[in-house]
Amino acid sequence: METKICIPITAKTAEQALKELRQAEKLADITELRIDYIKNIDEIKLKNILKKKTKKVIVTCRPDFEGGYFTGRETERFGLLKKAIKLSADYVDIEFKSNKDFIKELIKNKKSSKIIVSYHNFSRTPDLGFLKKLKQEIKKLNPDLIKIITFAESINDNFKIFELLKDSEDLISFCMGLRGQISRILAKKYGSCLTYASLTPGKESASGQLTIDELSKLYNFDMQNKDTKILGVIGEFAENSKSKFMHNPNFKIHNLNFVYIPFKVRPEELPCFMENFRKFDFRGSAVTVPHKEKIFGSIDVLDDTAKKIGASNTLAVKNKKIIGFNTDYYGAAKALKEVTEIKGKNILVLGAGGAARAVLYSLCKENSFVTIINRTKEKAVKLASEFHVKFNDMNNIKRLITKSDIIINTTSVGMNPRPDASLINKDDLLPGKIVMDIVYNPVKTRLIKYAEEKGCTTVTGDRMLIYQAIGQFELWTGVRPDFKSMELNLNKHLLER
Ligand code: ATR
Repeated sequence: METKICIPITAKTAEQALKELRQAEKLADITELRIDYIKNIDEIKLKNILKKKTKKVIVTCRPDFEGGYFTGRETERFGLLKKAIKLSADYVDIEFKSNKDFIKELIKNKKSSKIIVSYHNFSRTPDLGFLKKLKQEIKKLNPDLIKIITFAESINDNFKIFELLKDSEDLISFCMGLRGQISRILAKKYGSCLTYASLTPGKESASGQLTIDELSKLYNFDMQNKDTKILGVIGEFAENSKSKFMHNPNFKIHNLNFVYIPFKVRPEELPCFMENFRKFDFRGSAVTVPHKEKIFGSIDVLDDTAKKIGASNTLAVKNKKIIGFNTDYYGAAKALKEVTEIKGKNILVLGAGGAARAVLYSLCKENSFVTIINRTKEKAVKLASEFHVKFNDMNNIKRLITKSDIIINTTSVGMNPRPDASLINKDDLLPGKIVMDIVYNPVKTRLIKYAEEKGCTTVTGDRMLIYQAIGQFELWTGVRPDFKSMELNLNKHLLER
């Protein structure tokens, strides 16, 4: 069965349920009527809703012991499910934890309805052996579909579900929770019969459920299939990354069968995640905080530039090998070149971290005259000697600005949640200077605002972000993406403050 999107109806009254059903049917393949949400649900109310349906409906009455809202007696609950069959519900969902005699009775007397027997684990994902056995146990009851839903404590739990889905024609399976979202997004790739999405934010029937808008518009669900190539961003807080808004629309524009998703990975989970990355043939990823250095332990080859920079922000799989690249340097140079030549310029670089390394590499390639200053001077000294440039003391910042054509902030100062911070005082800036900030959250940092007020030319952090993403996109797909579309989609999701 081709994976379908199901929107759960979680209204508290029959009238509201009907209203939501109409909206949901415009967007989903199938809906799930959660009758445990509806107050005083009875046969008449159920009939009124079901007779108005235009698409297939699953009727579910989740008891409180399985995460639902039905608190009545079990016989009452079974009675409602039998009525759903009588009213020709397309599917009826019954929990595996229910009385087995009743499940058997429901399956025996299902008439035109199909029966889903479901298992939920709201706290963890048991090991694969347990899940396989569970699937066999449920299968013995001979339902039409088996549903196994677990909670992902770690991103690596999703891979147990992908294994479980192998060779299963009749299984609905994914993980709940924020860390389980990749299994909801990749339901088509791995063959879950259904994936659930909420009608609107706040209407989720389970944790981690995406909205129908996110699933179908952001993650191009309609375009996905078994051959979809998987890309993403590896980060401890990957869900906050904006790159999904740039890459996914461009896959659609160029008709490329890729999807780009957040991989929310804790440091201790990284080695196991990278094993899964290989095993499940993921094609590449961006790498962000705090994995930029630790990732070296999991890749096969470091490309020359990434080696020289000493940091990798991008992985791409070529001939089964995971190669570490750096596209930040390319992004920095392209962003700066939008407003100025780099060659021969005096440039002051603030900061001596990983981002500074990529920026320095791009500046040195262009034969410019660079001076580094940093809060921790020893780091500036070390970096300056590595890249054969000058260093100086933070205290001399005013004099150094006067002598520079270009000033680049590579530190995190000015980033949310402290957007009012700046390493440079407004009065130290002079008209005609070029000021670049690599911070893009917010786009207009305090430094950029000061620079604008003093008549400087500015380069905001979103420019570098877009250009480095363009470098990644080309590496992964071989296609040059559309700059305007990347810019437009990113800007919709960036704070301008
Ligand atoms: P990234 O990989 O993003 O560059 P990093 O390697 O941790 O991150 O580097 C952060 C840079 O921002 C460093 O230059 C850091 O200065 P220190 O080397 O002294 O730590 C700089 N930075 C961060 N917070 C700062 C602050 N409040 N004031 C001045 N510099 C700061």
